Amino acid sequence: MTQRRILLIVSGGIAAYKALELVRLLKGKNIAVRAVLTDSATRFVTPLSFGVLTEDHVYGDMFDLKEEREIGHIQLSREADLIVVAPATANILARMAGGLADDLATTVLLATDKPVLVAPAMNVRMWHHKATQRNIAQLRDDGIHVMEPGVGAMACNEWGKGRLPEPAEILAEIERLLADGAASPPLLTDTTRTIVAPDLSGPTLYGRHVLVTAGPTHEPIDPVRYIANRSSGKQGYAIAAAAARAGARVTLVSGPVALPTPPGVTRIDVETAREMLAAVEAALPADVAIMVAAVADWRAADEAPQKLKKDGSGRPAPLPLAENPDILATLGQSEQRPALVIGFAAETQNIVEHAKAKRMRKHADWIVANDVSGEVMGGATNSVHIVTANGVEDWPDMPKTAVAARLVQKIADELAGR
Ligand SMILES: Cc1cc2nc3c(=O)[nH]c(=O)nc-3n(C[C@H](O)[C@H](O)[C@H](O)COP(=O)(O)O)c2cc1C
Repeated sequence: MTQRRILLIVSGGIAAYKALELVRLLKGKNIAVRAVLTDSATRFVTPLSFGVLTEDHVYGDMFDLKEEREIGHIQLSREADLIVVAPATANILARMAGGLADDLATTVLLATDKPVLVAPAMNVRMWHHKATQRNIAQLRDDGIHVMEPGVGAMACNEWGKGRLPEPAEILAEIERLLADGAASPPLLTDTTRTIVAPDLSGPTLYGRHVLVTAGPTHEPIDPVRYIANRSSGKQGYAIAAAAARAGARVTLVSGPVALPTPPGVTRIDVETAREMLAAVEAALPADVAIMVAAVADWRAADEAPQKLKKDGSGRPAPLPLAENPDILATLGQSEQRPALVIGFAAETQNIVEHAKAKRMRKHADWIVANDVSGEVMGGATNSVHIVTANGVEDWPDMPKTAVAARLVQKIADELAGR
C-alpha cells in the first residue's frame, strides 16, 4: 500500500507542543507528515523541532521565494491525503469559517479539495463563545471534520471544555479518515469540472461528458454474504483517468474496489447492479458511455434479513437467483442514448464471436472483448479486441493504462470524425 501523507497545520495555542507528540505517533504508523506553522505557532514551538521529527522542511512563510519555487502552496495540499489542523485556535477556526487566506496555513486550507480535520484547543470561554460556536457550525456545514475538544483543567487554571483532544485520539480519527472507503463531504461547490490540465495536442474530449462504470457489483445474500466476481476495477479506472486527461468531464460509477479516485473524475460509489443502473441513468445525458464494470448477471432472489445458518441436515439451503437488469442493453436503447455506447465483454472462449453477438444484442456501438481466462482480472495488462460495425481490431497485450489511452484516443478520433 502507498504511504499515506498528512499535512499538519499547527496554529498558535498553548497546546502546540502536543502536535509534536502527534507527529511522533503518525511516524510510528508509517504515515508521512509535513508541517505548516502559523506565525503565532512559532512563538510556542520551534520549526526546528517539527523539522527534526517530520524529517522534512517546515513551511510557514507564504512569500518565501525558495519555498514557493520548490513546492508551492497549491502543491502542499495536492501532495497530502488529509489536512489536519492541530491545535486549531479560535482565530484559525474563524479565519477558515470566513474563507480568509491571509497566511500560508489558511491559503492552503482554502485551496484544497482534500478532507480536512480540525482539533480545536482553547480557553473554555473562547470555546463556548457564540462566535466560535457559529464558526464551528459553519465549518461542519462546509464539510470540515471537527473533533470535540476535551473537558478538564486548562493551562489558565480554569476548568471546562476546550482542551486539545489527546494525540492518540487525534491519531485514531486520522486513521479512520484515511481508511479506504471513508467518505468526506466535498469542500468545493463544483466538483464536476475537470481540474487536470487536458492534453490538447490531438483530438480531445474537451467539453464532452464521459460516463464510465468500473469494478464488480456485490449482490447481497444475507447481511454478511454476497455474490461477487474478481474484477479489480483497474481497467475502468484507467479509462476514466485517461478520459479526464483528454479534457472530458468524467463520471465514474464504481462498484466496491480499493482504488483511489483519479484526478478530475467525479466518482459515485454503488454496490449492486440495480444501484449501478440507477446511478448510470441519473448521470445522463452523456456523450460517451463506457461500461467496463463486471456486473453480476444474477442476484439472490430474496436477501435474507438474518444470517443464513446451517440446519444440521447436511443439505445447504436453496439459493434462488433472479436476473439483474442489463445496464448496457438498457443504455443502448435509452431515449437518452449517448452518441457512443461501448461495452466490455469478458469471455473465456470464442471471444470475438461472442463479442459480435453481444454488440448486436445490446445495441452497443463498440464491444471491447477481453480474454479473462488468464490473469486479466486484477492483473496489470490486458489484450483486447475492438469489435465495431466496421470489423475487428486486435490489440496486442499491453498495460491497462495503455489500453485506456489508446481507447480514449480512438473515441476522440471517432467523435471528431462525426
Ligand atoms: C500564552 C498564550 C496562549 C494561548 N493559547 C491559545 C489557545 O490555546 N487557543 C487559542 O485559540 N488561542 C490561544 N492564544 C491566542 C492565539 O495565540 C492568538 O489568537 C493568535 O492570534 C492565534 O494565531 P493563529 O491562529 O494564526 O495561530 C494564546 C495566546 C497566548 C499569549
